[in-house]
Amino acid sequence: MRIDIITVLPDLLASWFGESIVQRAQSKGLVEIQVHDLRTWSTDKHRRVDDYPFGGGAGMVMQVEPIHRAIEQLKSERTYDEVIYMSPDGQMLDQPLTNRLSTCGNLIILCGHYKGVDERVREHLITREVSIGDYVLTGGELAAAVLSDAVIRLVPGVIGDETSALSDSFQDGLVAPPAYTRPADYQGWKVPEVLMSGHQARIDSWRYEQAVERTRNRRPHLLPPEQGGD
Ligand code: ADE
Repeated sequence: MRIDIITVLPDLLASWFGESIVQRAQSKGLVEIQVHDLRTWSTDKHRRVDDYPFGGGAGMVMQVEPIHRAIEQLKSERTYDEVIYMSPDGQMLDQPLTNRLSTCGNLIILCGHYKGVDERVREHLITREVSIGDYVLTGGELAAAVLSDAVIRLVPGVIGDETSALSDSFQDGLVAPPAYTRPADYQGWKVPEVLMSGHQARIDSWRYEQAVERTRNRRPHLLPPEQGGD
């Protein structure tokens, strides 16, 4: 999988992707992340990529031309499954969307800034708009990092234990059950007996019940009404 991120703050993202599991995934050749400075495609002598909004008002708007040139150049080099724009009014990022994107070969992610992008970018160049929540960040970079991280960890081989991505919260429509490790008794705080019973069927059914209970308490909208969802 390859992800090309277009941003006015490339250094911010390069440092994030230069660390951790994502970095290992890149060195193993499982994913390739390229962060591009949008200003590279500016034709302005000061490398500006934004301008005042038509009709007046506060804030600057990112111009269509450099974004168009950036996306066209990338598309001339390979085929992309999606051109994603990170925006607070986009489709809410959730596990099903993350799963779907993890099966893509190549993605472009555009990070917005200032008052957002010229609407013609959204109309003509973007195939999907994604939000990471109903709050406004100073730019789309953190959102792009969140989306990329959630997608990359699902690419086979990226996290060591293949089953652990599948048993994540949300992967089966439930949040994850509680997990414990040694010691079995920490100053009187005890691990549930069943987990040490060695009886795998009982452990599995305890975990399932706990996951359903937690989902009912914390994310009831994920459950069907017969399981107490809303
Ligand atoms: N850009 C600014 N805020 C955002 C959000 N909540 N999600 C995605 N992109 C954003």
